[in-house]
Amino acid sequence: MSNETLPSWLALTQHEVMAKASHDDVARLNFLTHLNVHLSSQILPGVREVYEQEVKPAIIEATGSEPQDRHQIRSAMLDHPYYQFWSALRRNTMEMRHQVGRGVVLEQIEDIVAKVDALNQGADTLELDDALPIPDNVGLVDIHCQPGCYYEEYFPNDVTVAASYDIGLFVTTAGLLGGLSDGGGQAIAKWLKEQQPGFAPKRILDIGCTIGHNIVPLAEAFPDAEVIAVDVARPSLRYAHARAKALGVNNIRFVQANGEDLSRYADGSFDLISTSMFLHETSHQSMPNILAEIHRLLAPGGVCLHLEQPQYDGMPVFEQFMRDWDTYFNNEPYWGPMHELDLAQMVADSGFGAQPLEQIGLVSLVDESIFGKRSAGDAGEDYGRAPVWNAFLIWKAA
Ligand SMILES: C[S@@+](CC[C@H](N)C(=O)[O-])C[C@H]1O[C@@H](n2cnc3c(N)ncnc32)[C@H](O)[C@@H]1O
Repeated sequence: MSNETLPSWLALTQHEVMAKASHDDVARLNFLTHLNVHLSSQILPGVREVYEQEVKPAIIEATGSEPQDRHQIRSAMLDHPYYQFWSALRRNTMEMRHQVGRGVVLEQIEDIVAKVDALNQGADTLELDDALPIPDNVGLVDIHCQPGCYYEEYFPNDVTVAASYDIGLFVTTAGLLGGLSDGGGQAIAKWLKEQQPGFAPKRILDIGCTIGHNIVPLAEAFPDAEVIAVDVARPSLRYAHARAKALGVNNIRFVQANGEDLSRYADGSFDLISTSMFLHETSHQSMPNILAEIHRLLAPGGVCLHLEQPQYDGMPVFEQFMRDWDTYFNNEPYWGPMHELDLAQMVADSGFGAQPLEQIGLVSLVDESIFGKRSAGDAGEDYGRAPVWNAFLIWKAA
């Protein structure tokens, strides 16, 4: 995808609670989007070049063997001015995304909150729990440099962090996720309909829903299902609930709860449990608890589906190193540790036993007439945000 063919930020579906962007705001958001694409398509290939031509030969000369792992490559690349330049620019586009997004939102936050409140008013499908502690994996770090992470509130009924996340995601993904940033959820819904035609879940659970980008398409695909979407972050849930209503989706109950303890729900009470882009933001301490809860909550014959970036196992070490950038420079401390886990073993230990962990590749499903054709070789690939994910499927024995 070249900058000439990039859609404008205005191609996003401007739903009712989304912040309105002025001409200048749109120009800023588009500039940053183009800068990101320029970095990943024009500047980033040079990182591989300096690795192949300078850094790798130096490692081989010093050690007598090929680079062994991503850590060895990283410590050598950190000193190279080309890598430093690319890395600093990438970090800056992220910081700027949040500055711009937050600025746009703060100018109109009272209007946004009023709209969100009106849509949420009197609804019994939004369950907040003021006493729920924010777990450390969310509370101790502003994930991907997002001020206030997903949960910070600055005044009653605040939704600043959520509204800013909604308008800023495009800058990082350059439209790869489609008009409602839901290309991943759309792809899962399509896969389930086509590949599992007899599967009609009555109850669906989504853990770590944030503002509901990827659970809304599943709720639409299974309109008779009762859908429960949980997250620990109040502002995100308020916004998610209002956004779903604004999109005419009424079968989702948004609940403030911790995925590590969902004891409010009975054993075997869900036929489908999904997470999307969630596991890499959980810690080594929390992930086993979440997987154990998933095993307990899944009905016999039910399925759990995690949409994630691929695991490092079997991946060339240079690609692992590139994907690991987020771990060190994008406030994503769990990214690398999660992607190097033996997921099959962890799933087995959580109660599923030695059951094969199915993996399927999914390409973000978007309106191609606006956003162009998505493919694995898209030039927007910047190691970690390509429109191609792995979905890990775990069926619970019937
Ligand atoms: C990357 S976002 C997930 C994105 C979202 N699933 C989507 O498809 O757009 C991670 C979310 O997980 C939530 N989260 C992290 N740990 C959690 C936990 N233990 N229980 C529930 N939610 C959690 C965070 O608050 C955040 O909203």
